[in-house]
Amino acid sequence: MSLKETFQSKIDPMRNKVRSIVKEYGDQKISDVTVTQAYGGMRGVKCIVTETSALDPFEGIRFRGYNIPQLKEKLPKAPGGEEPLPEGLFYLLLTGDLPTEDNVKEITEEWKKRGELPDYLVKILDAIPADTHPMTQFSAAIVSLQKDSVFSQQYREGISKMEYWDPMYEDVMNLLAKLPRIAAYIYRKSYRNGDHIAADPELDWGGNMAHMLGVTDDPAFTELMRLYLVLHSDHEGGNVSAHTTHLVGSALSDAYYSLAAGMNGLAGPLHGLANQEVLRWVMHLMDELGGVPTKEQLTKYCWDTLNSGQVIPGYGHAVLRQTDPRYMAQRDFSLKHLPDDEIFKAVSALYEVVPPILEEQGKAKNPWPNVDAHSGVILLHYGMKEYDFYTVCFGVSRALGVLSSLIWDRVLGLAIERPKTVTTDWVEEQVKK
Ligand SMILES: CC(C)(COP(=O)(O)OP(=O)(O)OC[C@H]1O[C@@H](n2cnc3c(N)ncnc32)[C@H](O)[C@@H]1OP(=O)(O)O)[C@@H](O)C(=O)NCCC(=O)NCCS
Repeated sequence: MSLKETFQSKIDPMRNKVRSIVKEYGDQKISDVTVTQAYGGMRGVKCIVTETSALDPFEGIRFRGYNIPQLKEKLPKAPGGEEPLPEGLFYLLLTGDLPTEDNVKEITEEWKKRGELPDYLVKILDAIPADTHPMTQFSAAIVSLQKDSVFSQQYREGISKMEYWDPMYEDVMNLLAKLPRIAAYIYRKSYRNGDHIAADPELDWGGNMAHMLGVTDDPAFTELMRLYLVLHSDHEGGNVSAHTTHLVGSALSDAYYSLAAGMNGLAGPLHGLANQEVLRWVMHLMDELGGVPTKEQLTKYCWDTLNSGQVIPGYGHAVLRQTDPRYMAQRDFSLKHLPDDEIFKAVSALYEVVPPILEEQGKAKNPWPNVDAHSGVILLHYGMKEYDFYTVCFGVSRALGVLSSLIWDRVLGLAIERPKTVTTDWVEEQVKK
């Protein structure tokens, strides 16, 4: 069965399941909201349903029930490769089933067919000043492609609500196919004098992204890119990029509008942009201290950062209360491929120094590193020294998760989001009652 047929076979059972849960238990409570949560970013309020992944504070992320070591073992690899292919993860996120090698090949081929960038998009990208932040260029490119949305076209023609998922699926496949090329185009335009590299028809989606970026010929970078694109894909539905994509999609905005909105959220320094902030902060410390710093020097540097009212980038998390397993997966990769890299050594030393400092400071609920504390050092090791580009790599990956969810949103006919807001006067009245 093709990916689309497999996906289609899941639709009726899932619709029936949701329908009967809502019918039978619709009035049952699954969450309450406190005053702190209303003012504090709705932390822990259970009020959004996302099927593709779930996050446990201590164990970390599970993608359709599988943790990262299991993904590394069970997802198909490129010939001779050791890291999982992102196409396989997409299959898993969308269908809930582990893919075979053939399932993965089908997606690779499908994305090759759909991957060409239209001329108008190339012209738009060329017209954006090269020193515009890469995330701005990335978001603009995604929203520019909206002109070709199959969903918007079919909606205008009058399609049944039950069929919304189909044009959404087509938009998602078209968009995912193009993202590595958009990313590489932005990178080469902004940092390599517009000297672009054509896609290699022999390569998979992640392998091609590594190839078109053209930072190195080292095959380990190709493997890194596959792993990176798997690790950053999904982190359940409440994080800013996932929630924004879902929220905008709930107005029946198509995949282009929804993903561009999600990417604008990913571009915030407390979310995806933290990966560039980490590297900037680490490089500043390397410059200031000269070479691999001692633990005493690192301790002082961290306290200086905190005392100046800034956060330590790459540490802390809204949900996690342990070291992020995505950090550990990247650390394992580094121990294997770049154990002697000086900046990796500094990042490793920070792993020992920062948590006790944050604990002593007593503010952060989670003193442990998150995914962003580690990704930049590896990209830099292979020659990608332009920190501002890192969040684009994150965005290409994140699209796999949030767009899989968006198709499911249309399958399930999830309603337009419209939570009730209240004023402070109303809150005051309630609590004093
Ligand atoms: C991720 C993050 C935004 C989560 O925010 P959160 O859920 O509000 O975190 P907490 O509940 O632990 O925050 C409580 C306090 O600790 C502070 N804190 C949290 N992480 C911190 C860090 N890494 N360095 C310094 N202070 C931190 C918060 O700023 C907050 O301070 P405040 O009371 O003065 O407002 C936060 O940990 C952070 O800013 N980390 C650094 C940026 C980062 O790495 N982002 C990527 C996340 S994947």
